[in-house]
This record gives sequence, C-alpha cells and structure tokens, in this order.
Amino acid sequence: MAVFSPAKLSLLLLFLVMTVSLSKAALDAHYYDQTCPQAEKIIQDTVRNASMFDTKVPARILRMFFHDCFIRGCDASVLLDSTPRNQAEKDGPPNVSLRAFYVIDDAKTKLESACPKTVSCADIITIAARDVVTMSGGPFWNVLKGRKDGRISKASETISLPAPTFNVSTLVQSFANRGLGAKDLVALSGGHSLGFSHCSSFEARLRNFSSVHDVDTSMDPVFAETLRKKCPKPNTDRNAGQFLDSTASTFDNNYYKQVLARKGVFGSDQVLYSDYRTRWIVESFANDQTLFFREFAASMVKLGNVGVIENGEVRLNCRVVN
Ligand code: HEM
Ligand SMILES: *[C@@H]1O[C@H](CO)[C@@H](O)[C@H](O)[C@H]1NC(C)=O
Ligand SMILES: *[C@@H]1O[C@H](CO)[C@@H](O)[C@H](O)[C@H]1NC(C)=O
Ligand SMILES: *[C@@H]1O[C@H](CO)[C@@H](O)[C@H](O)[C@H]1NC(C)=O
Ligand SMILES: *[C@@H]1O[C@H](CO)[C@@H](O)[C@H](O)[C@H]1NC(C)=O
Repeated sequence: MAVFSPAKLSLLLLFLVMTVSLSKAALDAHYYDQTCPQAEKIIQDTVRNASMFDTKVPARILRMFFHDCFIRGCDASVLLDSTPRNQAEKDGPPNVSLRAFYVIDDAKTKLESACPKTVSCADIITIAARDVVTMSGGPFWNVLKGRKDGRISKASETISLPAPTFNVSTLVQSFANRGLGAKDLVALSGGHSLGFSHCSSFEARLRNFSSVHDVDTSMDPVFAETLRKKCPKPNTDRNAGQFLDSTASTFDNNYYKQVLARKGVFGSDQVLYSDYRTRWIVESFANDQTLFFREFAASMVKLGNVGVIENGEVRLNCRVVN
C-alpha cells in the first residue's frame, strides 16, 4: 500500500498542479467551420493586401506571433495597448520590430462585421503568421484554432523573451520553459529567414567583443566588416541594420546556410552551429529544405499551443479588453 510522506505528497501535488497548468484548452482545425467559415479567407486577404503595400509586414507578423506566444502564451497579450495605469508588452524594451498591428486590426474589423464576437485576436495572429510564411514561399499547414484572448499585458514581462546574446544552454532553457525542445528551437530560429534587425541587436559582436577579441570569433571576418560598415560608430541612423538572411523576403533554408558560413546575424543564431546539441539539426536543415519546411510547420503548431487559455474572452477590439 502506498503511504506518502509529506515531502512525497507535496511533490505529487506540485506535479498535479503542473500537469493541470500545462494542459491546454483543446484547439481544433475546424473550430470556426460552423460559426465563421470565411474567417481564414478574410485574414489571408487582409494580410496579402497589406504585404503588397508594405513588404515588411510578413516578417513583422511572424515575430509578433513568436513574441505573443512566449509571453503569457498565445493570448494576444502583445496586441493590448497601454492604459494610464498599465504599460503593455508592446511598450516594453524589445519592441523595435513590433509593428504592423494595424493589419491585425483590419482583419478584426472585417471579422467583426462578418461574424461578430467569434474569432479571437489570438487566433488571428496565429493564422496570419501561417499565411505570411506560406505567401513568402514557405510551407502551408493547418492552424488549430479556438484560443481565447487574455486580459493582461505587462511591459515588464518582455524580459523573459530570449535575447540575441543567449548561448545554447539559455536558449534551450527558454524554449523548454514553454514545452519546446531543441529541435523546435532550431526550426523556429529559421523564422530569421525573413526580416531585418537593427544594429543594436548585434553590434556588440562587432567591436570590443571581449577583453581578448575585438570581433566575435564565431563570425566570418568579411561579414563582420560588412556589418561594421552598416553600423558605424557613432551611428546617426536609427533605422540602420541588416537583413537576417540574404533572401530576407523569401522563406527558405538560406538562413541555415548562412549560419554554416558563420554569417548568422545574432549570437543566438550562430551559437546553434557551435554547440553539439544543435549543430546537427542546423546541418540537416541547411542540407534539406523539405525537411526544414516540415519541421518548421510542426514547431509552429507546437508554438501555437503554448499557454493557450480557456477562461479568456473574444476581444471585440484587439487593442483593449472587453
Ligand atoms: C531563438 C530566440 C530568438 C531570439 C534571441 C530572437 C531575436 C531577435 C531579434 C533581436 C530581432 C531583431 C529585432 C530588431 O532589432 O529589429 C529579431 C527579429 C526577428 N525575429 Fe527573432 N528571435 C528569436 C526567435 C524567433 C522566432 C522563434 C521567430 C519566429 C518563428 C522569430 C522571428 C523573427 C523575425 C521574422 C524577425 C524580423 C522582424 C522584422 O523584420 O521586423 N524570431 N529576432
Ligand atoms: C489594402 O491595404 C492598404 C494599405 O494598408 C489599405 O489602405 C487598403 O484599405 C487595403 N484594402 C483592402 C481591400 O483591404
Ligand atoms: C517601445 O518601448 C518604448 C519604451 O520602452 C516606448 O517609449 C516606445 O514607444 C515603444 N515603441 C513602440 C513602437 O511601441
Ligand atoms: C550560458 O550563459 C549563462 C548565462 O549568461 C552562463 O551562466 C553559462 O555559463 C553559459 N553557458 C555556457 C556553456 O557558456
Ligand atoms: C573599447 O573598450 C575600451 C576599454 O573598455 C574603450 O576605451 C574603447 O573606447 C572601446 N572602443 C570602442 C570602439 O567602443
């Protein structure tokens, strides 16, 4: 007969609490089939149109999804505006590339007239993130839906996003905290196949890197020189920076080829190749784009399951709680 000591009992309780809090609301590929069959079409049309007017939109929406899911789970907390009493995530420090909120607003307005009070803002971001990847030449996958929107967004919580200075240990930990593994870390880092970074996110690698090396030794020296020219000191151009891969508006496996060539822009990109735990995954994606696409899609579905809440709401306006 099992008799639990107080210590064992509290461990068991802790385990139960963790299981409950990790268990996610059931998401469903057919969630809106009856209530809003045109939802995905409306979102896709909006995202496509916006991307034609502004080529930065796809990258911004993909990063928005990552940011949303990593802070409080995929609950559209990233979309809430600050109020006089609360500074929201979007006004927190790593927000330089958090833009394109208007695209989500446009989709929401159309959805509210087509099927009022039905499609959550968290689902809109998730579907839009899939659409920008597909329309940029990447894979298509079925998005699971049924997320609810949260009511809390705090600038102070953006501190728990991984930083571009992280090593593989801290990256793996950051992803593991959200139930994601090393394969997800490497596959999702392939999001850097799209988009741009400001100098501030990588310039520490270019000058005075350490007491012994002026430049990060894991970076190709010619590439380092290119980046130094793009980010002169002093820098008067606040918009200066570098595209994250040489085909920054096409979603492909070029990012991994660049990392192999020691041309990853962030330290957190390059370390994936230096560490035995992730190096083989980088190599396999660099060698096989089909494999990368399949694993990226699978990891995006997993990312979309992070911290999904049941007791939320369907916001009427993605910027404010109901
Ligand atoms: C692994 C940890 C990650 C770190 C440390 C990281 C860090 C960063 C940083 C510092 C920037 C540049 C911000 C700027 O200066 O403008 C950036 C851009 C970007 N990130 Fe990540 N990121 C990570 C993972 C991801 C993931 C998982 C995705 C999506 C699947 C993603 C998608 C993007 C995109 C698309 C951009 C470009 C945004 C734009 O062009 O506006 N990142 N990331
Ligand atoms: C297309 O996008 C442009 C720029 O964002 C916007 O002004 C216009 O209203 C959009 N058209 C449609 C049909 O959504
Ligand atoms: C980013 O956050 C800063 C405060 O950390 C805020 O002043 C700024 O308005 C924010 N930028 C955007 C584009 O939201
Ligand atoms: C990774 O970074 C953390 C935090 O900065 C540090 O404590 C740790 O020693 C580093 N690990 C490796 C293997 O460099
Ligand atoms: C590099 O660091 C040294 C000492 O910390 C400092 O005197 C020098 O100005 C720095 N150089 C640059 C280019 O930041």
